[in-house]
Amino acid sequence: MQILILGGTGGIGSALINAYLSQGTVNRIHATYHSSQPTIEHPQLTWHRTDVSKDSDVAKLSETFDQLDIVINTVGMLHSGDKMPEKTITQFDSDFFNQNIATNVLPTLLLAKYLSPKLKSKTLNYFVTVSAKIGSIEDNHLGGWISYRSSKAALNMALKTISIEWKNKAFNTCVIAFHPGTTDTHLSKPFQQNVPEGNLQQPEQVAAALIHLLQRLSLKDNGKFFSYDGTEIPW
Ligand SMILES: NC(=O)c1ccc[n+]([C@@H]2O[C@H](COP(=O)([O-])OP(=O)(O)OC[C@H]3O[C@@H](n4cnc5c(N)ncnc54)[C@H](OP(=O)(O)O)[C@@H]3O)[C@@H](O)[C@H]2O)c1
Repeated sequence: MQILILGGTGGIGSALINAYLSQGTVNRIHATYHSSQPTIEHPQLTWHRTDVSKDSDVAKLSETFDQLDIVINTVGMLHSGDKMPEKTITQFDSDFFNQNIATNVLPTLLLAKYLSPKLKSKTLNYFVTVSAKIGSIEDNHLGGWISYRSSKAALNMALKTISIEWKNKAFNTCVIAFHPGTTDTHLSKPFQQNVPEGNLQQPEQVAAALIHLLQRLSLKDNGKFFSYDGTEIPW
């Protein structure tokens, strides 16, 4: 089994690498890093320095593989430097919005473009992006965080559209969006005080939940949005 994990230095990405390595069922894990130096080392793990929001970097990365069984994109951002998600539209900032789009949406589109020849195999394979429930339009009852929310909604539409195209082209690929729940990582750190007691997930729990979910999915689940607890989320 050949796996590609984008964002392998992140909280959820590194937990996924460790979980797959400890399973012993994987032939090779390819993982990407961007600005942080990777710390996990293993004979079955290959690191690639990649800016997944850059067309040329993703094109170059894709040349590394003949065939992939699982692609999991965990790259994402919610805040950056001193820029925090907006509480009101009056805090909207074009640069911050564009950064959210570049980090949360663009990578999935580039990955689908360049990796599609590596996925159309005879066996079932998976193309997963870690999204967020906050990107569900139907589930939006709170408002706020408009750049992050809009970027995840756009990501969800991108995944749904890719899932339809690949189904029409008879790919054997299950394309899904995955919501990890609020997880104890760099991304959620500034907001963890608002999380009710017992509701903060550890990255290891999220990794185990996603791996368990993939084991029970089939092609009929292509184009769905799943939560860490295995339930479906409306788009
Ligand atoms: N944590 C939560 O509570 C939560 C909740 C809902 C959804 N999510 C989603 O889960 C995903 C993973 O988040 P996390 O909590 O694991 O965050 P994290 O620990 O901050 O990790 C983010 C990862 O994204 C990578 N990255 C950012 N920009 C990149 C770029 N241009 N090219 C390549 N890599 C880039 C970072 O790499 P470097 O450090 O090397 O730059 C890092 O590995 C995100 O999509 C997030 O929106 C998280």
